[in-house]
Formats: sequence, C-alpha cells, structure tokens
Amino acid sequence: MIYLNGEWKPIEQATVPVLDRGFVFGDGVYEVIPCYSGHPFRLREHLRRLQSSLDGVRIENPCSTERWEELIREVVKRNPFEDQYVYLQVTRGVAPRDHAFPKGVEPTVFMMSNPLTVPPPDQRERGVAAVTVADNRWLRCDIKSVSLLANCLLRQSAVDAGAAESVLLRDGFLTEGSASNIFVIRSGVIITPPKSNFILPGITYDVVIELARANRLPLEIRPVSEAEVRDADELWLTSSTKEVLPISTLDGKPVGHGTSAGKPGPMAARMYQLYQDYKRTVMRAPADAQA
Ligand SMILES: Cc1ncc(COP(=O)(O)O)c(C=O)c1O
Repeated sequence: MIYLNGEWKPIEQATVPVLDRGFVFGDGVYEVIPCYSGHPFRLREHLRRLQSSLDGVRIENPCSTERWEELIREVVKRNPFEDQYVYLQVTRGVAPRDHAFPKGVEPTVFMMSNPLTVPPPDQRERGVAAVTVADNRWLRCDIKSVSLLANCLLRQSAVDAGAAESVLLRDGFLTEGSASNIFVIRSGVIITPPKSNFILPGITYDVVIELARANRLPLEIRPVSEAEVRDADELWLTSSTKEVLPISTLDGKPVGHGTSAGKPGPMAARMYQLYQDYKRTVMRAPADAQA
C-alpha cells in the first residue's frame, strides 16, 4: 500500500496529474528511511534533513514532525516486509507549467515502502568495483532533490563500465558517490570530505563519523584530493541501503597496497561490525528513543 495525498491505495491505482511539478520540473525533494523489523532508523535525523531540503527549495513542509512519524509508521505497518525502506517525496504540487512558483497550491505527498535488501555477505567480502567520474551536478547537492538526472547519468557511467558506483571528483577533490558518501582510509586514518553544498549530508555518513569518534578510531574530516583517493588503502561507500560497503577496484585498479590490494581491508570490516552493533542497540531501545 502507498500513501498519496491523504489516501492509502495499491501502487497500481496511484496516479498524479501530468502537470505535477515533480513530473514537469523535477520540483520536489525526497527521503529514504530504512526500517528494521518495523522500526524506522534515525527517523528524527531523516525528518530534519527533509526539512532542510524543503527549506532549500522553498516548499512549506506539509506535515508536522509528529504527522510524518505517524505516516511513516503507518506505511511500514501496511507493508508485509520484515526490513523495509520508506521512500517519501514532496513536490510543489500541480499547476499550469510556469517556472515561477504557483500560488496557493498544495504540495503533493507520496510515500511507499519496499523490501530493504542490504548487500549480501559475499559482496561485502569481495567489495565492489567503482569508477571515477567528473562531478558535473549543480551546486546544491546538499538538497535531497528528486531532480536526479545528473546522478542517474553518473551512476549509468559506472554501470556501463561494469561497476557498481561512481566516485565523483570536482576540481581535483572527492565529493561523494552518485548515491552514496565516500570514505578514504590512509595509514589507519578514516578520511572523508566535510559537509558542504557539494555533498548530501548522509545519515549513514553521520553514523560512521559518530562510531569512529566513539571508538577512538583516527578520523579526519577535510578535503580529500584525487591523488589521495587513488592511493588509498581502503575506500568505502556508505548509504542507508548499502550501509558500509568496501570498494575493491577503482577504474579497474585494485584499491590498497601489497598483498591485500583489491581486497576489502580490516577497517571496513571493523566499521561494518560497529554499524551492525549500533543498529541492534538502537532497535532494542524504546520507541521514543529510536526516533
Ligand atoms: C548523492 C547521495 N549521497 C549520499 C547518500 C547517502 O545518504 P544516506 O546515508 O542518508 O542514505 C545518498 C543516498 O541515497 C545519495 O543519493
């Protein structure tokens, strides 16, 4: 069952008018929230990021935090999957086609849930292939906008090269992946670019940073040069659906050095475990503490 503008219905019966600005202009924002055994993960943080995306595109938030929480729990309840990811999107609404914002139009609110399948163990143990691509997106990559054409093109470059993700470089520096954040490990130090308009502030990115700090793992949040990416001991991609996934080849070359080159490194395994332990702890906490 999906939610569309106040109604619950099977997805096959859900339609939006062709003049929805999401369809015509890609004028909207979205969130993806993983839910484990019915519990939304880091819900408050997702809703805060949603608010900041809405502020970034000047759409008034159509729901209060409490209402969003209610709707998200409801969509999870109405779907049978053990682990799910809730996709929600808000567009500026339906109006005659004109670039300028329409007045007095209600935003379109759409929410669905799908089974959440995290990378299988063999993929984590082998790692995935990635390619570098020039980051040619706009300068507001911090907004989780439904206008994902640039990200789709960048991801397709990876797929065309037989890889799983593209690692994006802008002016000689790492930004992020086409649908993930990127961490670089060099001499035992976890390094990742700071939040800025060039990257999406990933919820998983924040969790990984918190876990590194809590476990006193060396961490540097600073610009990362292309040379540092290419000469990394380990590369990870992180996202709500991929969690912490090692990249084992970059542009066809093994990541890392010596005999372990091309194989996921020990720091990835450590962070993956910390992430799983953290997930289990949060999911055992009472409902209000989880949000
Ligand atoms: C461009 C981009 N960066 C980073 C991420 C990771 O964000 P999160 O950890 O919140 O899933 C995503 C997630 O889809 C993304 O699309």
